[in-house]
Amino acid sequence: MSSQLSFNHLINSNQFSHEDIFLLTDTALKLKQDDKLYQKLLSNKILATLFFEPSTRTRFSFESAMLKLGGNYINLEQGDTSSISKGERLEDMGKIISAYADIIVMRHPQKGSVEQFATYADVPVINGGDGPHEHPSQSLTDLTTILENKKRLSELNIGFFGDLKYARTTNSLIKLLTTFKDNHFTFISSKELRINDTLRVFLKDKNQHFLEHNSLEDVIADLDILYVTRTQLERTKKETISTISPITINSLKAAKKELIILHPLPRVTELDTSVDSHPSAKYFEQANNGLYLRMALLKNLLSDTKT
Ligand code: CP
Repeated sequence: MSSQLSFNHLINSNQFSHEDIFLLTDTALKLKQDDKLYQKLLSNKILATLFFEPSTRTRFSFESAMLKLGGNYINLEQGDTSSISKGERLEDMGKIISAYADIIVMRHPQKGSVEQFATYADVPVINGGDGPHEHPSQSLTDLTTILENKKRLSELNIGFFGDLKYARTTNSLIKLLTTFKDNHFTFISSKELRINDTLRVFLKDKNQHFLEHNSLEDVIADLDILYVTRTQLERTKKETISTISPITINSLKAAKKELIILHPLPRVTELDTSVDSHPSAKYFEQANNGLYLRMALLKNLLSDTKT
């Protein structure tokens, strides 16, 4: 296994080699066993978290990860508390924050904005979500949880349920899973929230077989993994979409005993709380794994410059 990542900025899920994935997920699962392994490693390092959209898991887990590695953080919670509200360009901000921090995590509502920002930054930049486009550190968290439970990333039958058009988490994860052999995808959504045309073309170009359904009941018995997402109301108009019935404990009657249910969270109404006590429910563990995966990312992205 390689001991170095193949990238400096983390912008899109197509940047990862399989060596990168196994280095990061392996480190994350080791840190889950002992989160004090590298407790002073980044003692002179500063993380900047710049969030122009709300977040609970991504921002807090990155900040907590930096503290657990001995570093510190500075943050921007709302774009309107920075000079962006006075018209400062993101590119200028990239140069300025690079002088104040050793690594930057940024979330922004526009597709491509974090990539543009990164071209002007002198320190590593991690995309914490750019509109409906990508959320690569979430995908690595998802893969960590799949490996932890299934011990493999291939030969899996994965159902994606909910908003498959606007959810950046499914967009990133689906692309990554196509790079492992013999994975099969079933997309379960209302007709308005089916996978977007860009992803549809990507899958067809890769000769990746997939099925589309509007009912979980028809397909639940075949699934190894059920990945659920909420409707992204911040990217669409509520009155223009229909949703399908939420998942409840009764939806799982025909499921395999080994099924795992993932959700990047937050959940709203698509996944009933009655599922939380089911042995297949792994989404809170998945959120917990986000901390260890982000510790692994910070460790590996900053290890060359550590003192
Ligand atoms: N999964 C995720 O990105 O959660 P937050 O929006 O709370 O960061």
